[in-house]
Amino acid sequence: MPTKIVIGTQWGDEGKGKTIDILASKADVVVRTQGGNNAGHTIVADGVTYKLRLMPSGILNPKTICVIGNGVVVNPKVLLSEIDNMEENGISTANLKIDARAHVIMPYHIALDGLSEKARGKGDIGTTKNGIGPCYMDKAERSGIRMCDMIDKDKFENLVRTNMAIKNKMIELVYGGEPIDPEEVIKEYNGYADRLRKYVTDTTPIVYNKIKEGAEVLFEGAQGTLLDIDLGTYPYVTSSHPISGGVCIGSGIGPTMIDECIGIAKGYTTRVGNGPFPTELFDEIGDKIREKGHEFGTVTGRPRRCGWFDAVIVKYAVRTSGLTSIVLNKIDPLGNIGKLKICVAYKKNGVMTEDFPPTLEELAICEPVYEEMDGWDEDISNIREFDKLPVACQNYVKRIEELCGVRISTIGVGPGRDENIIR
Ligand code: GDP
Ligand code: IMO
Ligand code: MG
Repeated sequence: MPTKIVIGTQWGDEGKGKTIDILASKADVVVRTQGGNNAGHTIVADGVTYKLRLMPSGILNPKTICVIGNGVVVNPKVLLSEIDNMEENGISTANLKIDARAHVIMPYHIALDGLSEKARGKGDIGTTKNGIGPCYMDKAERSGIRMCDMIDKDKFENLVRTNMAIKNKMIELVYGGEPIDPEEVIKEYNGYADRLRKYVTDTTPIVYNKIKEGAEVLFEGAQGTLLDIDLGTYPYVTSSHPISGGVCIGSGIGPTMIDECIGIAKGYTTRVGNGPFPTELFDEIGDKIREKGHEFGTVTGRPRRCGWFDAVIVKYAVRTSGLTSIVLNKIDPLGNIGKLKICVAYKKNGVMTEDFPPTLEELAICEPVYEEMDGWDEDISNIREFDKLPVACQNYVKRIEELCGVRISTIGVGPGRDENIIR
């Protein structure tokens, strides 16, 4: 059975959750490898909507082993509320496994995320304020607290007291914030540890052995290519590696064990938070796409910025993740809005380029070069065969496929599990 990576090709929210849920119906293992509860993955199954943040999107399949890998940062409170929500809906979490090495998001990470954003003023990143960046900072600085530490009471208490002596100084003296009581934190987190202990294990041999056995293993990306801390629109990025390369580090699996890399794209482009966005629409077409595509953040509820499909970006994802196919979700919201545009290249100082630039300064002088395409007025949400789509819609998909140079295997025409066209 092939081992598949599923990643976001744009700025996140491409419909990864929906696609993973569909693929998970046949998967033995689904693994999250990076990010944390900054992710918001929506699954619509049998009319019920689930918004998952840390829980792998394979959880609805009772047979699937769901792994939170070593590269994920875990907010135990959020994870427990997801576990409770699942159990209340009759969905078992018995197959959930959390890697002992995964770092824990602490209350001071959340406080520092908010305070540093405020201090950045107009230059703020627009983070989800979930403490993701500060938690990864501690990981890199080697002062982080991991799941294995959280479930070891004595070690945890020592680490919290040591860390918080410094963190409270930062909060109070650097940012003028309110200090946090370490003893309260210890009490609160000891309660989380008692409930999460049974899920914590070394997940790396589990995933490795499953691949060796020939089981179907899926790696569920969070965020998207342009939010990658190295290859994204730095500093307007997240603090992890949402590209396919991040999967190996975040799960302890070598690259030779991966067979397929599936990129998820939307039929247009969206972005939440700040930073450059070459094809952004500021007119009523942008508003229409936002409304028709329900483009409001799963995590923060913020309106998503909307714009035309940018082939330069998706080609960059094809290259940086070695994509073998693309799932193109959300083409249905593009119906009935008139002519459509696809950005096919950027013009930089009068010279055409198809390569996404490495710096914001270069990106700022890039003008999108558009190709205009006919739109369609029909509602396509009930169509399940490619040939039955309006010709203009078929042409739109084929042109994107041609520009990206990778096969589009599936087209999403609605949020539900069955609202897809398989090609
Ligand atoms: P993720 O973060 O990549 O998992 O994506 P989100 O769940 O944050 O955002 C995608 C949104 O689009 C969700 O509300 C999905 O239910 C919805 N969605 C996914 N695929 C489609 C599609 O093909 N058509 C429509 N109309 N909605 C979709
Ligand atoms: P999914 O998995 C869209 C964005 C934030 C902000 C930047 C940094 O649902 O696609 P952070 O809190 O990570 O430090 O914020 O990254 N961001 C996302 N945008 N989808 C996501 O996840 C995101 N996760 C983070 O809006 O611009
Ligand atoms: Mg999302």
